[in-house]
Amino acid sequence: MDQNLIKEIREKTDIVEFIGKYITLTKRGKNYFGLCPFHADTNPSLSVSREKQIYKCFVCGEAGNVFNFLMKYENISFREALKIIGDSIGIEVKSDNKVIKNKYDDLYEICELANTIYQNNLMSKEGIDAREYLKKRNLDINTIKEFGIGLSLNKRDRLTSLLVKQGYNINTLNELGLSSGEVDTYINRIIFPLYSIDGRVNGFSGRIYHGEAINKYLNTKETPIFKKGENIFNYKRARDEVRKNGFVIIMEGFMAVIRAYTIGVKNCIALMGTALTIDQINLIKKLSMNVYLCFDGDKAGINATINNGKMLKDNNFNVKVIPLSDSLDPDDYIIKYGSEKFYSLISSAISYNDYKIKNLKQGVNFNSADELTNYIDLVISEISTVDSEIKREIMLKNLANDTNVWYNTLEKKLNELLSKKEKTKVSIITHDIKERKKNKYEKTMQEIVFYMLNNKEVINLVVSSQVYFPNDIYRNLVREISDFYEKFGYINIADFLSYEKDPEMLKYLNEIIAMEIDSNVDSTVILELLKVIKDYNVSLEIKRLEKLIKEEVDPLEQAKISNEIMKLKIRE
Ligand code: CTP
Ligand code: MN
Repeated sequence: MDQNLIKEIREKTDIVEFIGKYITLTKRGKNYFGLCPFHADTNPSLSVSREKQIYKCFVCGEAGNVFNFLMKYENISFREALKIIGDSIGIEVKSDNKVIKNKYDDLYEICELANTIYQNNLMSKEGIDAREYLKKRNLDINTIKEFGIGLSLNKRDRLTSLLVKQGYNINTLNELGLSSGEVDTYINRIIFPLYSIDGRVNGFSGRIYHGEAINKYLNTKETPIFKKGENIFNYKRARDEVRKNGFVIIMEGFMAVIRAYTIGVKNCIALMGTALTIDQINLIKKLSMNVYLCFDGDKAGINATINNGKMLKDNNFNVKVIPLSDSLDPDDYIIKYGSEKFYSLISSAISYNDYKIKNLKQGVNFNSADELTNYIDLVISEISTVDSEIKREIMLKNLANDTNVWYNTLEKKLNELLSKKEKTKVSIITHDIKERKKNKYEKTMQEIVFYMLNNKEVINLVVSSQVYFPNDIYRNLVREISDFYEKFGYINIADFLSYEKDPEMLKYLNEIIAMEIDSNVDSTVILELLKVIKDYNVSLEIKRLEKLIKEEVDPLEQAKISNEIMKLKIRE
């Protein structure tokens, strides 16, 4: 790939502005800080340097240039990142012929085509009943187009025969869940396309629209491009809106999301009736750490709110709840009470803790000492998960008022629980931030590489010293940095990062970039660091010889080796 083009695109893109489009950055000193999107960050720990054109997170250690950021953030290849960033500043990146087509591209193509067929069906003569149904559900033509809604006709092999006629393999159609044998999967259903995280059709959900069926919705099962637990409805479309609003609303079903969209609430996603998976949580992290749960108001919805909310809280999200009355789902609620009422529900969303406590109270008999004690225990346990001391005190006061139990008694109980938690927490934290063990020599090698990346003089100094780096990773890094310098006549971290491709090396490079040391350095310091490595090589050699001498039986040879050792020790 053309290194000059890469360099040009990187130079014309200001990393602060670019990352600023994805996360909010605030200036502090020389650098800009924001919440790191690569771990569950609660304090801004991602720092972006305009001067160096790199970012680094001092908690999770993620670091890199503008390309690395986009690759990691969008989960895309270097080439894709280059193209997107190039596009954004008007530089066209031609895809060379060598680019390997993604092995799933053909499958996405078929889903896209199937979706077009379904959409055409809906608009055809045969789609009149379905269009009537959608109209009754208050879905206008714009919404139908926006969400790609379509229709599968009332024929057992309509889609399959069309696609086979066009040359597609029946096995592939089966594999995609579009058909089973020669028979269409979706017969006479309204079709809602499902989209991958990057916005390509990867599956379908078909809803019955008249009569009865065992399944109201029929969904794509697992296929090579559709994994239920890794999909989130409306993810791509919601992304910018989530950023604008600063939070994401999670709903149960996609009809709710579509309804909210029609009244201008566009920062919603749906789980499609499943419990949250770890993969989904990681995807939501990339949207926002602030989530509002707006599940159905029925018993199942309440349970889903509590369970998913807990999982999100355990993953450091700020969780609020938008409770719906009358067992309604957001769709029905908006239809029944109107959009204004729904907007005000959003702005008066309550914290997860308050929601949970309110819920715990349901049905408790306050006249029964046992039930009341049990309730108090549960509430105190909930209060103990709240970070703010003031909030804890308020909640505890409310509990005291509510139950007529003395505040100090409750407080004592809470403190007991908190100190127990503190103990387990400490052990987790120390475990968490324990860095990879590095000995003095590895640290020295890292420092040398760090200085090489920041000063071309250091590259010359290290190369001419001919010091051997006794570790493959750093030896290769030193060689590659000097290769880069020789080829391009300059050095900077941001460009070297797009030059280095080996993921293992990049891991170490990240550690080095994240080092908090001043990049200005004197040559005497470099010479000292190099000496540390030289001495280390000598000590390694002595160790090797000492081992050898033990294995040697010939006294003459032994003497020779021992002489060698003597010489080395004097040098040392
Ligand atoms: N769901 C499903 N199969 C079903 C029922 C539900 O896959 N038989 C999933 C769908 O993804 C749906 C979500 O669970 O979006 C929520 O279900 P539900 O509340 O029953 O559907 P609604 O969104 O209310 O849809 P509608 O208003 O069309 O009945
Ligand atoms: Mn509904």
